[in-house]
Amino acid sequence: MVVNKIKKVAVLGAGTMGHGIVELCAMAGYKVSMRDVKQEFVDRGMKMIRDSVEKLHAKGKLKESVETIMGRITPTVDLATAVKDADLLVEAIPEIFSLKQETFKECEKYAKPECIFTSNTSTMSITGLAKATKREDKFAGLHFFNPPVLMQLVEVIRGEKTSEETMKTLVDFVKSIGKVPVRVEKDVPGFIANRVTAPRSVLLFAMLEKGVATPEEIDATLKKAGYPMGAFELLDYVGLDVHYNGQKYYSETISPDFTPSKIIEEKVKKGELGAKTGKGFYDWSKGRPQIDLSKAGKIDPLDLVLVEINEAVKLYDMGVATPQDIDVALKLGYNRAKGPFEILKELDVKKVAQRLEELSKTYNKKIFMPAESLKTGKIAKVLK
Ligand SMILES: NC(=O)c1ccc[n+]([C@@H]2O[C@H](COP(=O)([O-])OP(=O)(O)OC[C@H]3O[C@@H](n4cnc5c(N)ncnc54)[C@H](O)[C@@H]3O)[C@@H](O)[C@H]2O)c1
Repeated sequence: MVVNKIKKVAVLGAGTMGHGIVELCAMAGYKVSMRDVKQEFVDRGMKMIRDSVEKLHAKGKLKESVETIMGRITPTVDLATAVKDADLLVEAIPEIFSLKQETFKECEKYAKPECIFTSNTSTMSITGLAKATKREDKFAGLHFFNPPVLMQLVEVIRGEKTSEETMKTLVDFVKSIGKVPVRVEKDVPGFIANRVTAPRSVLLFAMLEKGVATPEEIDATLKKAGYPMGAFELLDYVGLDVHYNGQKYYSETISPDFTPSKIIEEKVKKGELGAKTGKGFYDWSKGRPQIDLSKAGKIDPLDLVLVEINEAVKLYDMGVATPQDIDVALKLGYNRAKGPFEILKELDVKKVAQRLEELSKTYNKKIFMPAESLKTGKIAKVLK
């Protein structure tokens, strides 16, 4: 199904995210332009798309020929060519606020008045970015996960002035490219999936700082409990710099409790960034680290789940999203077997609130204090 209102998409940026989004649009039947600032970047993006489409074709996953799909893409370095007849603009350029603002301003010169503008930002305020344009009602967040072709989740984020019509068009568009949209009704830092998981890291580093357990002891416990990867192993895999910047951003926008621990700060300063540099919490020079499962048992892995549940309930209390959508976001964005509300359903709400209070006191972190409707027990009604 191709949404009637949207016939042509313009994607800005041919990098990690941009080329994947272009590929999805072309495979779904949209005409799509891909703009980057240098011809070599556009060419690199086109090559990555062709390689991926060829692989999917060889596996028999596509009904159309590679050339038909590639033929829908217009690669360009010229912004006017990319944007002029687009019905939807997806910005996937570097995470620099002023660069994004300037780019949106420039797009205003060439875009049709009815074109919807979106940003794939992982962190920035959608309302703030929209202010660079004269179409705040036709501006929203469209947050894909990496790699876009494989990950099912797309968060559709409402800025302060985004119209319901814009939200609906984007939700339909996301479905039309074979992805699962989740409506984020308020523009909060981290949106849903990244936000819900953020307090878990605060607890992990608080445990290290207090000497409760070492990274390997924590990871052994998690792996023994059935997690495919340990928490510190995963941080190494993602990149400690990426994680550090994310937590720093949350410390500035949500609570100082997110201030990155000295432990990670020192590693980032030393250039020990994880798998990509060969060293982080583990030595990656010989591949994935071997974690000694006999070291399990120093922590209760449920505590890490409880702080996520707490953040999920806070988002529900703030009117950011429905419990169903929050569960979908965590399952599809973080490959979790169950969403936080699905887990909460199996627990005693009173005991969850009590344990969160204990964690807050033990680690001196206000963010672990139970969310309002956990404290009052009101959330139990929602779970039925
Ligand atoms: N990489 C991820 O895991 C991920 C996941 C979700 C969201 N995001 C967000 O997506 C956006 C892009 O991230 P990325 O990882 O693809 O970055 P990237 O560095 O891989 O790609 C960005 C591309 O944008 C190009 N660019 C710079 N200025 C431009 C302009 N004015 N017009 C067009 N192209 C321009 C760069 O040359 C580069 O090729 C960021 O906002 C990021 O936060 C990234």
